[in-house]
Amino acid sequence: MTSRRVQIVEVGPRDGLQSEPDMVPTEVKVRLIERLMDAGVQRIEATSFVSPAAVPQLCDAEAVLATIGRRTGVEISALVPNQRGLERALAARVDRIAVFTSASETFAQRNIRRTVDESLVRFGPIVSAATAAGIPVRGYVSMAWHCPYEGAVDPEATLAVVRRLDALGCDEIALADTVGQASPDEVTWLLERVATAVAIQRVAVHLHDTSGRALANLEAAVHAGVRIFDGAVAGLGGCPFAPGSPGNVDTAGLVTVLERLGLDTGINLAKLADAADVVRPITRRAA
Ligand code: COA
Ligand code: ZN
Repeated sequence: MTSRRVQIVEVGPRDGLQSEPDMVPTEVKVRLIERLMDAGVQRIEATSFVSPAAVPQLCDAEAVLATIGRRTGVEISALVPNQRGLERALAARVDRIAVFTSASETFAQRNIRRTVDESLVRFGPIVSAATAAGIPVRGYVSMAWHCPYEGAVDPEATLAVVRRLDALGCDEIALADTVGQASPDEVTWLLERVATAVAIQRVAVHLHDTSGRALANLEAAVHAGVRIFDGAVAGLGGCPFAPGSPGNVDTAGLVTVLERLGLDTGINLAKLADAADVVRPITRRAA
């Protein structure tokens, strides 16, 4: 692996589909994931082991994981909110889990019905158990820059959550611009602060394109040393608990910008377009 190689985490099957109002058939989700693997995507966040009442679209998490053909060198991960989710994820043989909290107090209470502190306390045993089982853990910080309820988030609040997730044993920290309101300067500033707490190689950025700044923010993140980037095929996505959050950065746009900057993603854009074709007809964001 050369230093030009970057990691793309495809979150379309999870973040992209979770708020689709019409149930996407399991076989379509499976086909999407398999086409993504065909395109060379090596990290896929496939689903969530959350409450089916909270996120009905992902109630078939077990079926999706049992049906996809697992491939050597491809990491399949899933979101886990609690102990029950961890048990389900381990039974489904995920390669990685992701726990999620927020830099914004109001959002945490609306999304996971816990204070930020409570959520972190609850993650302690989950991260420990996953790590003991050989499963690495990503820690998401939602609303790392802006919150729909609180506005601009204090970088020190985000940094405090980063430190806590690191201390719990998360090997990767994902900073999410969940509402897509960050500016390149804000991205640079926060990443400089975060890099004082954890190695930048362990930091992922999860950008939404709500304000059309995702690709500019991506470049700022690259310049700050980030080498792990989330994207969603066909620009799917949004969080049902975050008003104004439609649209993850499109993985194809992400790949195009990263390659233009001289970085190597390992992803074949023509084949990625085949993966996008799987979801285009069934989403509201259809082109
Ligand atoms: N898997 C399956 N079911 C679960 C579950 C899990 N991981 N966690 C909780 N549940 C079920 C419980 O069995 C219970 O069901 P019941 O009402 O039929 O008895 C119900 O969900 C409530 O459980 P409780 O422990 O009281 O949790 P809660 O109501 O405080 O919910 C969360 C907290 C976080 C588990 C829930 O809100 C959730 O899963 N949210 C998803 C958030 C998300 O994915 N957001 C998108 C990412 S940005
Ligand atoms: Zn997101």
